[in-house]
Parts: sequence; C-alpha cells; structure tokens
Amino acid sequence: MPVDVQVVGGGVIGLSCAWDLSRNGHGVRVVAPLAGHDGASWVAAGMLAPVTEAQFGESALTDLLVEGARRWPPFARALEESAGRSVGYETAGTVAVALDASDRASLDDLLAYQRALGLEAVRRGPSECRDLVPALSPAVRGGIEVPGDHAVDNRALLTALVQSCRLAGVEFVAGTVRALEPGPVIALHDGRRLGSAHVLLAAGTGLPGIAGLEGAGLPDIRPVKGHIVRLGPPEAARGGGVPLVGRTVRGLVRGRSVYLVPRRDGSLVVGATVEERVDTAVQAGAVHELLCDARAIVPGIDELSLLETSTGFRPATPDNMPRIGWTALDGVAVATGHYRNGILLAPLTAAAVVDLIDRRPVPPAVRALAPA
Ligand code: GLY
Repeated sequence: MPVDVQVVGGGVIGLSCAWDLSRNGHGVRVVAPLAGHDGASWVAAGMLAPVTEAQFGESALTDLLVEGARRWPPFARALEESAGRSVGYETAGTVAVALDASDRASLDDLLAYQRALGLEAVRRGPSECRDLVPALSPAVRGGIEVPGDHAVDNRALLTALVQSCRLAGVEFVAGTVRALEPGPVIALHDGRRLGSAHVLLAAGTGLPGIAGLEGAGLPDIRPVKGHIVRLGPPEAARGGGVPLVGRTVRGLVRGRSVYLVPRRDGSLVVGATVEERVDTAVQAGAVHELLCDARAIVPGIDELSLLETSTGFRPATPDNMPRIGWTALDGVAVATGHYRNGILLAPLTAAAVVDLIDRRPVPPAVRALAPA
C-alpha cells in the first residue's frame, strides 16, 4: 500500500499511532533510529496510574489521564490478539504507602484531593497495607489503596507494537530525522528525503533537534531525566520467579517518591528520579537514593539481583500537558509532550491521531490539546 502517513518517532506514541493508522486503512512508514528499543518508552516502568499521578493544580491533566486509562483494556486485548503475545497488562491495582508521620499527613492531603476529583482511592491502615502487600516493612505508617491504577510491561508492549505494525504492513526506516521540509518531506541525516501526504511528529525529546519546525506552533519540549533500576530474583529463580510484591507499590519516604512495579518474570522496576538535566550518565547517587527509598518500604529487595540501571528523558511541556493535533504546517500533525504519562496515554493518542488524519473530530478529551 502506498505510504500516506509518515510517523517520526519509534517510541510508544509513534508505534501506537502507526499501528492504529495501519489497522484503519492507512499506508504508514515509521522513521526512527531504533524503533521500539529506545528512548523513554523502553526505560519506563509502565504504570497506568491516573490516580497516583494526580498532582495538585493539574485537574485537567488528571481528567485526560482518566480517559487514557479507560482506553487501555480494549487496546491491550486488540494488540495481544494482533501480535499473538502478552503485553503484561496487570490489573491488581496500586498501594501508595507512607514511611513516617509527615509522609502519612502528605498522603492524607493527596487522598482528600483525589477524592474531591471523584477518583477511587481508599485510606488503609498499616496492617491493611501489609495484608495487601505482605513484603511491606513494619515501619510503614499506612497508605492508600487505588484499585484502578494498573500497569503494563512496557518492553513487552513495545515488542508487540513493532510486531503488529510489521504484520499490518507498516514500513520501518532506521534513521535520524534532520529536518522537516514543505511537502511535507522528511530529510534524514544520511541525505535521504521521504515525502508523503501527512507527517506525524511523535519524536518526544528528539523534536527540538529537527530543523524546519519554527512556524509549527509547537511548545518548548524539555527533557526531564529519570533514573530507573531493574531488580530480579536470584539466578536460580529467574524466569519463573514470584514477584516480591503482587501489585505496584508507591512510597513516600521522608518526602521523596519511589515506586516498585512487579513483572510476571519475578523482576521489579524501581523508579524514578525527576531531574532537570540532560546528561545520559547513570549516577551512583541517584541509584543509591532509589534503592535506599525502595528498601525502606520493601526491605526484601536486598535479596534481589541488580539487573539494570538506566536513564531516560520524559518529554515535558511548560504546562505538563501533551500536544496532540494539527500544527500550523501543511499536512503535519504532532503527538508529543506526554511527560510522565506516555504509556498511559498511548491508546487515546493513537485514536485521536486516526481521527485527525481521517478528518474527523478528535475525542473531546483531546480537543484542547492542538498546538495550532
Ligand atoms: N510515570 C512515572 C515516571 O515518569 O517516573
């Protein structure tokens, strides 16, 4: 099928859009250095957490996240069916716990805010938290149970997306985009120039490096660094290990946030720092901080092996809201700036992008997010 949409970016947003466009009858090409194996989507923990990501003063974003979460079950089912593999979608819910009295007070404030927004969250005492997650430290002062905050295995998700894209006939071009030219035409660093009726910019923190976008009406996209640590059961138990925790555990540890997200293979993703810096180095201090905070609420992590330390960059906009819609450039749409919530918002974003390209109204939740 001739290509009518080129997608710049091979992270969860670019791939979800490419797959959704292709299964809705479009000829799609994805242009990315390493589609499915790079960037923030690969490093992420995969939380689908509209409630525990709710921040004071960001109720519009929370509404968007709630709609994003609503789209996940049918998206996961369709993707698993198409790819013939699991994406590790987990619905056991989340417990957010507090380590000391001041953390407990902060969580109570957050709970009041969540409930004022109509979100489902239940105050739990220390022993109720330990009933939900027996591996919690006896020091934990209680917390909040959030049944609707789920998780997905982000790497299984990306693998399934690449596979489904390939099966649907999506073309992959490995390369880095240098510029966008009128046409629209994508110019790569190696000299190739690729034209199509439409271009979707979904390059996350790679967007500011693309020339020719000056008149597009895009906001500043800044990278916000996050360290992630992956832990696993000892060698003998690997592959079939029972996770130390059976659901996502988020902690407030002397004012600092940490999360532990279990995987079906027994491994655990511990994250994440939030740093306004642009170097890719894995720093000892950041890893130390994450491990200290994680072991304060789940001491059993001491017995796990250190599998991986990594860093990624969340694409943040000045107001923390993504931008999804047509730009001021002919034939050029954008889906970027998903900051902490790219995985959660991928199904909703993809549905909106299909509507855009098919010249239909986008879902109401997305209408205010157009840059132009
Ligand atoms: N969504 C979690 C994070 O960005 O760390």
